[in-house]
Amino acid sequence: MNRVLPLLAFLLVFPLLTSATHADTDIPPPAEPNGLALTPPMGWNTWNKFGCNISESLIKAAADSLVASGMKDAGYQYVLMDDCWHGARNAAGDIAPDPTRFPHGIKALADYVHGKGLKLGIYSDAGDKTCGGKPGSRGHEFQDALRYAAWGIDYLKYDWCHTSTQDAPSSYRTMADALRATGRPIVFSLCEWGNAKPWNWGAAIGGNLWRTSGDIWDKWQGKGEYQLGVMDILDKVAELYPYAGPGHWNDPDMLEVGNGGMTDTEYRAHFSLWAEMAAPLIAGNDLTAMTPATKAILTNRAVIAVDQDRLGAQGRRVAKSGDLEVWSKPLADGGRAVVLLNRGTTVNRITADWTALGYPAHLTAKIRDLWTGQDLAPATGGFAADVEPHGVVMVTITP
Ligand code: GLA
Repeated sequence: MNRVLPLLAFLLVFPLLTSATHADTDIPPPAEPNGLALTPPMGWNTWNKFGCNISESLIKAAADSLVASGMKDAGYQYVLMDDCWHGARNAAGDIAPDPTRFPHGIKALADYVHGKGLKLGIYSDAGDKTCGGKPGSRGHEFQDALRYAAWGIDYLKYDWCHTSTQDAPSSYRTMADALRATGRPIVFSLCEWGNAKPWNWGAAIGGNLWRTSGDIWDKWQGKGEYQLGVMDILDKVAELYPYAGPGHWNDPDMLEVGNGGMTDTEYRAHFSLWAEMAAPLIAGNDLTAMTPATKAILTNRAVIAVDQDRLGAQGRRVAKSGDLEVWSKPLADGGRAVVLLNRGTTVNRITADWTALGYPAHLTAKIRDLWTGQDLAPATGGFAADVEPHGVVMVTITP
């Protein structure tokens, strides 16, 4: 009896000991990179212009316009359905699209988009419901991922509404694992708004990009309850440059270029700065009704080349004096993409000193203006230009 008691006690306690030990080591290892988004994703998304008012005809028309406008040739690839494509789940829990808005279903839409040489993205949420009140993926992650893969989906934006006390890294990890288990390459876009600092864990759980703030609105500056102007968003992403690189990007949200709330000068600055930040370039305007200026901004190949530079470095603010700033992005060829930004309300001269860019002052470098497309005279020591209010001058500097 005396021998049996300790044995019994051991048998009772042993499982507790082992489960405690197991729990300590139960943090999943970092996910292998999925090999996607080696440069920042480029495409178009329904949300900024159309909100919940989306349908298969709207998305097909956008795909047509991506091709006809030259945007596809300029690098835009992903056609992204945001919130509100959803219908209900059936008794087995399978999600289906809204049958009125998507009468032919998502597979047919994906086939159409793929037929244009483009890729299709979809949207869900880590909680019970999406921000628009549609069914979320919580508890259905693997089922939804399989469905997306069967439809031919290439990109998932995964939002964070209605998540209650859920843990962000593990919620996003579950969906990353679910996407991976499908065997289909699917870019994973984390839309957690930066609250849980996804730049610290987004790549490790298998994400390709993560939002760094609340939603953008079509304004130069100023904050709403959940929305921020272009300058406010820029200031949030500015310090996060160490976290960006091939396969894993900071996402300061989609573009507002062409939506009417800013001037073309401001839109050129917005687009230049997003390229300078190696941000995803996701247009958010009505592609079927673009002004020539909007189209010229969105298809500026020299600026896009800065965004897509294979080094994948995010630009940094290297000088600031009041409203006047110098931003520098190292390029794979050893050059720099430089943005001179004037936040003020009068024309101002801004100088980028070579030393601020990490070059010796005696260096003579070639300079190309990315908005006029002209080669300027080579310069030694620095480059200066007059910059419009709320505008930029953007150049490449090549030693
Ligand atoms: C959140 C996201 C937006 C958009 C909407 C859709 O606000 O941050 O980008 O996806 O939800 O409801």
